[in-house]
Amino acid sequence: MNFLKIRATRLLCLLWALATCCAQASAGERERLSLDQGWLFHLGEVPTYPVKGHGSSYYNGKADGSWGAARADFDDSGWRRLDLPHDWAVESPFDPNENASQGYRHRGIGWYRRYVQLPVSDRGRHIELQLDAVATNSTVWVNGIVINRNWSGYNGRNIDITPYLRYGDEVNTIAVRVDADAMEGWWYEGAGIYRHAWLVKRDAVHIATDGLHADPVRNAKGWTLPIEVALESSASTTHRVSVDVSVIDPAGVEVAHGSAPATVRPLAGADARLRLELRAPRLWTLRDPSLYRVRAVLREGDQRLDSVEVQTGFRTIRFDPDRGFSLNGEATKIQGVCIHQDHAGVGVAVPESIWEFRLKRLKEMGVNAIRFSHNAPAAEVLAMTDRLGLLVLDENRHFNPSPDYLQQLTWLVRRDRNHPSVMMWSIFNEEPLQGTEVGYEMARRMVSAVKALDASRPVTAAMHAGLFTPANAAQALDVVGVNYQSWAYDRYHKEHPTRPMTSTEDTSAYMSRGEFRNDPAAHVMDSYDDQPSSWGSTHRDAWRAIAERPFIAGSFLWTGIDYRGEPSPYEWPSASSFFGAIDLDGFPKAAFYIHQAHWVKDRTVVKILPHWNWPGREGQPIKVMVASSAPRVRLLLNGQVVAEGKVDPIDMASFDVPYAAGVLEAVALRDGVELARDRVETSGSPARLVLTPDRGALANDGLDAVPVTVSAVDAQGRAVPVANSLVRFTVEGEGNLIGVGNGDPNSHEADKASERSLYNGLAQLIVQSRRGGTGSLTLHASAPGLQEARAELTLRAVAALPSVPVAQPVTYLQNWRISPPQATRADPNVVVAGNDMNSWGWGEPPMRQEPEAAAFRLYRSELSVRADANDGQAQLVFRNVAGSAEVWVDGVKLGEKPDPRPGPLTVKLPQGPAQRQVTLLVQSRPEEPSGILDRIVVERAH
Ligand code: GAL
Repeated sequence: MNFLKIRATRLLCLLWALATCCAQASAGERERLSLDQGWLFHLGEVPTYPVKGHGSSYYNGKADGSWGAARADFDDSGWRRLDLPHDWAVESPFDPNENASQGYRHRGIGWYRRYVQLPVSDRGRHIELQLDAVATNSTVWVNGIVINRNWSGYNGRNIDITPYLRYGDEVNTIAVRVDADAMEGWWYEGAGIYRHAWLVKRDAVHIATDGLHADPVRNAKGWTLPIEVALESSASTTHRVSVDVSVIDPAGVEVAHGSAPATVRPLAGADARLRLELRAPRLWTLRDPSLYRVRAVLREGDQRLDSVEVQTGFRTIRFDPDRGFSLNGEATKIQGVCIHQDHAGVGVAVPESIWEFRLKRLKEMGVNAIRFSHNAPAAEVLAMTDRLGLLVLDENRHFNPSPDYLQQLTWLVRRDRNHPSVMMWSIFNEEPLQGTEVGYEMARRMVSAVKALDASRPVTAAMHAGLFTPANAAQALDVVGVNYQSWAYDRYHKEHPTRPMTSTEDTSAYMSRGEFRNDPAAHVMDSYDDQPSSWGSTHRDAWRAIAERPFIAGSFLWTGIDYRGEPSPYEWPSASSFFGAIDLDGFPKAAFYIHQAHWVKDRTVVKILPHWNWPGREGQPIKVMVASSAPRVRLLLNGQVVAEGKVDPIDMASFDVPYAAGVLEAVALRDGVELARDRVETSGSPARLVLTPDRGALANDGLDAVPVTVSAVDAQGRAVPVANSLVRFTVEGEGNLIGVGNGDPNSHEADKASERSLYNGLAQLIVQSRRGGTGSLTLHASAPGLQEARAELTLRAVAALPSVPVAQPVTYLQNWRISPPQATRADPNVVVAGNDMNSWGWGEPPMRQEPEAAAFRLYRSELSVRADANDGQAQLVFRNVAGSAEVWVDGVKLGEKPDPRPGPLTVKLPQGPAQRQVTLLVQSRPEEPSGILDRIVVERAH
């Protein structure tokens, strides 16, 4: 009998090995599958019972000893179904009792669950779950086993879930608990899985995530591209592999290649290294951001195991203590903005296309650099800054070199170090310890951790004090970053003439879009750039201090775009910031044009800042500010010259013009020659709505989203800059309205709605395609008393992102106890003492007993019945039982299988409590194996 047993075990091992090896052989290329679709969501905590007593305490200490919604068999039948990215905070109403810093939005706790089925051919591959960001603290379980805790709302996590997975017709459960009461910032941070989720399937021997490092270095003759490829293996034997690397230029031509061998031991890593030389690649510049692709292919003999591609660019960066920043040797003043990541209507769950819209708006303003304050941006956004030619100051969230936090910093550097747009790392923002010895020691360790991964970029930190103390963090930095404190620029430079410096943050001035008056009672700030915060400066003063000092590398104005939370200077009912040069929707404020005049060099900028709708103010002076890059400007009112004067390149030009309805024009002049012209015109009352989509078509991938501007014009078609009608929207066709906004920091209208008021003439709706949608989308806007507007968007067919199919939940009975065999019929209702973990064994199907003399055994498990299966129509299915058997549930016999030959046993599940005890009494036949040979599931009766 023993011999038989050994043989059977060997056979099983052999079959397993074959399955594993075949799966590997057929695994091939990596698959990166979107896991955004088909999540189940529950807002709020899922309560569990306190863990008390022997049985539950014992279970609680086990690998899969999870509770409540973390358990694989949890009943989520009433949960909401949604797709990621998701921010639940933006769905909630404004509430004065919530935190002003977080924009008066409830955050709280939320749970997500997703079911996944994997083909048998995936067995033996390496499978990684990637969550790109979750706000804020999160815990992840796979099949009830806790596999990840992450206390960062901005960092992604790449979790090897291979060991916990089941294949074939079995269903895996991913559960994520999100604690968004945890805060990391003093701005709106959103709540939930607000970036993408992925499942990445690779060969057991593969290139690690973020494992290809390719960052070119200039040398005397040309360029060297040092390549490092980090390999990993979850295989059980050693593999000798090679990595082939090719560099492909912007035209698609391979311009360099090389190869390096590596030996990868089981469950270990290895690095393959090589250097490629390139003579004269096309440079990455702000005007022509040429990108090269670096492709690494991992091979074992003839077999291709894995491949990965990153983009890189050839450029040099330098921060000089006297001359500031240069890109490719060319002095380049940094015209930067700090931004947070939320947008109107969508909170922090910002579609990539909306990010692109935001970045392009900033480029229009003349911005050449972005500080993603104060945290890691989404990976897709850095691919955009590479492509659009924007420099990036890449900032870490926490100032802390302890292992947990250092891991967040090194994750950031590993992920982002190939991007040509990333010019510098920032290890902190405004830390009270910055001016102390402790601060210096902490900074030194963080800088060293960055350098170990990336020797090519300088490290800075945004300091708002402590620059002149005997020991301070600045001493550990390559570039000294100064927040505000423009008084310190000269002093620090004088005392430390060899230390490069930049502003990391400046300005913090207030304005409301489209407002040209101050009304403290209504929380309205004018747009004449005369409202600095007590710690900041006006846009013009901040830029002057930087522009006049060549040793200051540049500006990062606070902020490029408005953001929710941190409402300043007014709090409730104000719920978002007044700092932006652009409002929450991306509509320019006056500061946008002032900076355009400062920063845009390839054309003449001229912009009249107030509108020209001042009924009742006839004959009274109206302050007219003209933002222009021309040296002189002339104003004409209804064709008559009313003013002319010099334009200060920083302060711009301001005039008082007595109001008369009509057309006000500004003519930008140089030496009497007109260079450009702008006009504003008095309009009548609103007569008609206008919808202006940012683009005419959108990809039908379920991701692409288009912002649509809503405005009002008068009967003659002139824009009405003071219109404030409440507008209702409908979208027909295969697309969704995913959010609305109007840029008013005082508005409490819902972001997720089909209506929005115009604010100073403008509102925005965001429309997203449905996956696989066809035809076109028709948008309607209507408002009482106005002629309605209609716009058409075409859905453009594109290949859908490969994704993980959405599986349905299956209730399995797991964690079986097995009684010892006994000669006489066992009592199915016998009680096992709560502290007895050993007299009955433990098992999972298949639980096969070899022929044994004593014929009776009991098998026992706990069953959780889902609400959608607790209607008396579901059945409990033992797929294969050997021996005759009886099923008992909560002390009641529900059915039997008199025939001892292997076969299914199915009983109807009556309605009853959710938690039940199931006991199977099995009687074996002499000389024959017995037991539960296959899964036990709850199914709908057919
Ligand atoms: C700075 C800080 C920013 C923001 C800003 C508002 O001190 O770094 O995060 O709070 O002030 O002016």
